[in-house]
Amino acid sequence: MAGIVLVGAQWGDEGKGKITDLLADDMDYVVRFQGGNNAGHTIVHGGRVLKLHLIPSGIMYPHITPVIGNGVVIDPKVLLEEMDRLEADGLTTHRLLISCNAHLIMPYHRDLDGASERRLGDNEIGTTRRGIGPAYQDKASRMGIRVQDLTDEHILRKKIEAALVEKNDVLVKVYGLPAYTVDEILEEYMGYASRIVAHMADVSDVVNRALRADQWVFFEGAQGTLLDLDHGTYPFVTSSSPTAGGACTGSGVGPKAIDRVLGIAKAYITRVGSGPFPTELPSDPGSVGEFLTNRGGEFGTTTGRQRRCGWYDGVIVRYAVQVNGLTDLVITKLDVLSDLESIQVCVAYEYEGRRYNELPCRQSIFHHARPIYEELPGWNADISGCRTFDELPKEARDYIGFLEDLAEVPVSIIAVGPSREQTIMRRWERRL
Ligand code: GDP
Ligand code: IMO
Ligand code: MG
Repeated sequence: MAGIVLVGAQWGDEGKGKITDLLADDMDYVVRFQGGNNAGHTIVHGGRVLKLHLIPSGIMYPHITPVIGNGVVIDPKVLLEEMDRLEADGLTTHRLLISCNAHLIMPYHRDLDGASERRLGDNEIGTTRRGIGPAYQDKASRMGIRVQDLTDEHILRKKIEAALVEKNDVLVKVYGLPAYTVDEILEEYMGYASRIVAHMADVSDVVNRALRADQWVFFEGAQGTLLDLDHGTYPFVTSSSPTAGGACTGSGVGPKAIDRVLGIAKAYITRVGSGPFPTELPSDPGSVGEFLTNRGGEFGTTTGRQRRCGWYDGVIVRYAVQVNGLTDLVITKLDVLSDLESIQVCVAYEYEGRRYNELPCRQSIFHHARPIYEELPGWNADISGCRTFDELPKEARDYIGFLEDLAEVPVSIIAVGPSREQTIMRRWERRL
């Protein structure tokens, strides 16, 4: 049995798409278990660049069954557009399985996401405005609409009617936005129904059977540990569980199904949207922050927003090791740091004269935490062609060793460029 989970160890955009695509070669199933089209996973494979939002990153391989689990929120319009785009690109999506229990993002969710952000003004979360938060809110309030509701127009009508009683009131009276009619939403969603229903499956059953048959299942996280609703920098988080436990609840497998938990982190760190960020660097001309933004191409895959950049934060990654039970670290974008004279790594925080080696539990301390850095020498060499650890310059090997000692888990995979080949596999036994 082999259940492998990959989660972001930072604030997202760590390179989950690239690493999932790379490892999917060895897998039978790739399962998305949370989030929605707030995710943007970029894959560079065989000279092609794919940007995926809802479809699991194993889609390039004909032997993979891509699966969307119950923990995902699906905007059916976006999903169908993404499938059409992939088909037009010559890829096939007919193997895609979609959980009958996944919740649907409805048009009012998108409206409410934007409206609530506008109302928050300077205090906005900086969401992707894709309706993610409002859809999970309805799921928790037990008034969500699920994929299986698309199988029965009568039930779908009843559920939309029930939802609109409240949603229209809020849209009109709180936000001054137009109301929806049941008929317009019903017509739109029934238009998506047959194509979505054709992929509907009992995902928990499918995945458990696969694991019992000794097939390999890869659980592809979206977002990252610090965006987790429970364990992230609340309220500047997303509304799902991107941590490893989410792989179980979001797909319907037990914790014993998971054999290995990979945490992925950039060799520095980025964040999109608002919220505290102790190691953030200013991005003015000539600064290291600007260097990382440009060298790393740090602009969002989903919204195009410039990502905030900073030095690697060892406290955050150590925290990710703990809350996810990481067995391995994957470090990406090591190539981006080439040519820097020296590199800082945050090893602890300081607040009001006290040192914090672990993430402070009180959010207000984290907001004001000052990073304590250790400085490491940089390397002045192009490492994007390195394929083994020994080919890396000594300073780059020492940098990885330093991150490994801080996290107390091995760095098993290192990425030195966006394409699939630009990877150093240190501790990954290929399936024969
Ligand atoms: P994800 O959301 O975690 O899948 O990450 P994104 O795709 O949003 O952002 C990661 C970006 O970095 C993408 O443009 C990748 O193609 C790129 N990338 C991934 N690994 C590397 C690497 O090792 N080096 C460089 N230079 N780019 C990388
Ligand atoms: P991938 O999977 C980076 C951030 C948003 C915002 C917060 C809440 O590509 O790593 P939401 O729309 O989810 O309610 O927004 O979460 N966010 C991400 N940041 N990468 C992502 O996904 C993200 N998905 C959401 O910017 O700060
Ligand atoms: Mg991304």
